[in-house]
Amino acid sequence: MTLIDPDSGLDDGLNPAQADAVTHTGGPLLVVAGAGSGKTRVLTRRIAHLVGERGVSPFAILAITFTNKAADEMKHRVADLVGPVAHTMWVSTFHSACVRILRRDVRQLDTGDKDRRFTSRFSIYDQGDAARLIRYVIRDLNLDAKRFPDRSVHAFISKAKNEGLSAEDYVGKAIGPSERRIGEVFTEYQKRLVRADAMDFDDLLGNTVRLLRTQPGVLDHYRNRFDHVLVDEYQDTNIVQNQLVLMLTEEHGNVCVVGDGDQSIYRFRGADLRNIETFEKTFVGQAVRLGRPELEPTVVVLDQNYRSTQTILDAANAVITRNEGRKPKELWTSAGQGEPITRFRADDEQDEARWVVGRLKAMHGEGRPWADLAVFYRTNAQSRAIEEQLVSLGVPYRVVGGLRFYDRREVRDAMAYLKLAA
Ligand SMILES: Nc1ncnc2c1ncn2[C@@H]1O[C@H](COP(=O)(O)OP(=O)(O)OP(=O)(O)O)[C@@H](O)[C@H]1O
Ligand SMILES: [Mg+2]
Repeated sequence: MTLIDPDSGLDDGLNPAQADAVTHTGGPLLVVAGAGSGKTRVLTRRIAHLVGERGVSPFAILAITFTNKAADEMKHRVADLVGPVAHTMWVSTFHSACVRILRRDVRQLDTGDKDRRFTSRFSIYDQGDAARLIRYVIRDLNLDAKRFPDRSVHAFISKAKNEGLSAEDYVGKAIGPSERRIGEVFTEYQKRLVRADAMDFDDLLGNTVRLLRTQPGVLDHYRNRFDHVLVDEYQDTNIVQNQLVLMLTEEHGNVCVVGDGDQSIYRFRGADLRNIETFEKTFVGQAVRLGRPELEPTVVVLDQNYRSTQTILDAANAVITRNEGRKPKELWTSAGQGEPITRFRADDEQDEARWVVGRLKAMHGEGRPWADLAVFYRTNAQSRAIEEQLVSLGVPYRVVGGLRFYDRREVRDAMAYLKLAA
């Protein structure tokens, strides 16, 4: 019996490479693909295939995405395909999965303080909380707050944690007086976190890895529970996240990761493209070491793009071929050449904004609703000139994934100050 409605079209709408990845029977699977080539579609369909065709319980599946929004979307997409059983499945970000693991078992973790354990009700400090605590530590250690701004110190600590280093490791590797000072702050910061029964975002990952590493019972529990682990946007994993995936799966090897080395957007957060290579090497090594050829990784390449015209793909290919250390791959589409790209050289940002908003108005004049039009920019600061134009020409707009210029805190503060001064 199959759980899937025969009309749900599970096998429809997949090209042959996608179908290979969806129906791959066992062992590690690495899907390397470009933008818009159906990576997320493959992952979602693969989950549906495992549940519907292979009788895997959704309870035994862990699917990792990079944002909560993507996790919700995937849950819905899988629920549409396999029904309400989808809800027993863990579909979450790395951070939420770690919170669940820690809430259950963190009491078993050695905190380094013999009198203290984390409780299952530990608090989670966001960036602001973490920076504040670091500021107090800097003050109490009598360090110069100008030389050691809390946010920069936090960034150093965060980077170290994402590389899997503890405060002790960091102190051991510190070179020069300034790293040694940061090491002292790091050590004291961790002590105070333990005392406050609190973790920052990076600790959620690091403490989970430490828990699984030191408590074989906990590791076994999750290894036995999750027969299949799937990870989207693998190029954005950092070393600690990669360790987590490998720890959970290196025994059974039922792990499917999809990623695009050209799209890594989290370099600054410790994402490490070497993880894709480490993934392959780890399993090749496991296959040899354990004499289990089924642990050899399978690589599927998806190079057909479904989102853009060939003109756009050629332009993107031309740019990214210059990236260092990338695996060559060329995207293609059956969507045809499409319209040529227009390039406009502006005199300055105002000129650029006038041109952009002029184009928007022209397209709107031809009958396109505002909601169909979008403007992309490279950094948030660039939104200012464009927003000014939009406001002055009465174009309604929404800033996605950032704050409207006039809503940003420093801008609000400055405006309040100016009003006061006026
Ligand atoms: N075989 C296919 N036939 C038709 N449309 C497809 C096919 N595969 C993917 N698509 C469509 O292409 C678009 C991109 O798919 P998807 O979001 O899965 O790609 P992706 O590789 O995950 O993209 P990103 O790089 O943004 O993460 C979606 O609209 C999807 O429905
Ligand atoms: Mg995707």
